Amino acid sequence: MANTTQKSPAKRETFNSRLMFMMAAIGSAVGLGNIWRFPYVTYDNGGGAFLIPYLVALLTAGIPILWFDFAIGHRYRASAPLAFRRMARWAEPIGWFKAGVAFFIAIYYAAILAWAGLYTVKSFNQAWGDDPESYLMNDFLKMDSSSTFSGDFVLPILVTLIAVWIFAIAVLAMNVNKGIGSLTLVFVPVLIILFVIMVVRALFLDGALEGLNAFFTPDWSALSNTSVWIAAYGQIFFSLSVGFGIMITYASYLKPRSNLTGTGMTTAFANSSFEVLAGIGVFATLGFMSVTSHVAVGDVASGGIGLAFIAFPTIINQMPMGALFGVMFFGSLFLAGITSLISIMEVVFAALSEKLGWNRATTAIVFGTIMAVLSTVMFASTSSLVILDIMDKWTNNLGIVFCAAMALLIVAWVTGRRNEIAQHLNAVSSIRVGRIWEFCAFILTPVALIIMMFNEIKSMLAEPYGGYSSAQLNLFGWGTLAVIVIAGIVLSALPYSKKTITDRIPGSDFGVPAKGRRKGEPNPLVVGAVSSSTDATSTTSTTPRS
Ligand code: ALA
Repeated sequence: MANTTQKSPAKRETFNSRLMFMMAAIGSAVGLGNIWRFPYVTYDNGGGAFLIPYLVALLTAGIPILWFDFAIGHRYRASAPLAFRRMARWAEPIGWFKAGVAFFIAIYYAAILAWAGLYTVKSFNQAWGDDPESYLMNDFLKMDSSSTFSGDFVLPILVTLIAVWIFAIAVLAMNVNKGIGSLTLVFVPVLIILFVIMVVRALFLDGALEGLNAFFTPDWSALSNTSVWIAAYGQIFFSLSVGFGIMITYASYLKPRSNLTGTGMTTAFANSSFEVLAGIGVFATLGFMSVTSHVAVGDVASGGIGLAFIAFPTIINQMPMGALFGVMFFGSLFLAGITSLISIMEVVFAALSEKLGWNRATTAIVFGTIMAVLSTVMFASTSSLVILDIMDKWTNNLGIVFCAAMALLIVAWVTGRRNEIAQHLNAVSSIRVGRIWEFCAFILTPVALIIMMFNEIKSMLAEPYGGYSSAQLNLFGWGTLAVIVIAGIVLSALPYSKKTITDRIPGSDFGVPAKGRRKGEPNPLVVGAVSSSTDATSTTSTTPRS
């Protein structure tokens, strides 16, 4: 062992294979954002013409930032806070802000999964009856939109939500291969098969063509509208799971020799293909509804909760063998969501386990329980829909956007590590990055994100979002962001466990060039490297910090 000044730290766990990592990354990317957000966002922002800003956003922001996230996680071998700290001590809060955003997204995302799980079962006998909207609001959610927090709970949702949390915690308590790896290796292919069957079925419905016409008919004038371009960038960030720590954390479990850009490209195209497939399936189905109920597709198209829990049950009521279609639709929503949920939770757990020096299982059980309690208190209550709507808006449109912009600006322009990240990607990957990538990742995308953020703040301040009361918006919107910022600063101030190496590990192989380096030759990318032969890529070790 060349590095004698430091005892060999325990190895960081790694995914067994590239396929496993790819499935985990695709499982994270493909989620609710693909199935219920993309079709509606496309329709609402110029239909077929939206595919142009979408493609531009994918190529100039989605893929470049996915590569950036992969590079940070892989190079610094840590979750977001520790990765940023290893870059610069003062940069740690950025990582915690990302973990904070993930924390709040996870607690409401789990609730939607509980609803999807319950609706999968309800599909068998179409328990929502003739009026799915009234059923959803009055019988299922027992919605109370006036109180800030009702304190009343809905038992079936409470029980299912607890089950979702127990399942997710159990997966994350296992090592990455047994837990995240095995789950995604099974769930992602099953989801794809189920979803393809559903889309093919939808294409044979009466009116499917009308739906597809409405979806794809381009409104070219939309291209001159800034908000359409902003919508494209927003969709790409949430949908590809970039900017809030997920891909940093997952890439930290990759082996040193891992093709980052090639895997990123495959992940991005798999995600976008699923998204377009979802658009086709959803609009073919809406076309059927439009024909049978004699309303324009535009009047039945909606996004989010309305699409999944009102429009789809209405359609399922009308179609032959609707029960089967319902099981496939809600089952897909659940499968797509659960693989995304575990990736969002992993951001939080990995960060805390490194900070406290706890093992994976203890961290998952302790913090998973805390998250589960918060999630159940808020989202099994009759105030769930209001809290969810506000928290979703604030964490996505401000939280993710802010964290992503800050991370890019700090890495590129404050710590000046643009070249280092580029070199790292080029040392291990098949597709090389250059000036164009740097321009997209460090200039174009941060500018787009900052414009998005200011536009959003302007509209949030101009009129109360969704007509909610200021108490509701202050508590669940601005309050959530305040908690993320304060917790991020406090956690950054707390010391790391002595088991965790907070500085860059001398001799660690942050990046091993795939080709062109002879055995024993030092890795040019390791700053202050003693030797490249030490695979000291861990986060936690039994040695004191240097
Ligand atoms: N990428 C995940 C989704 O689309 C979070 O839902």
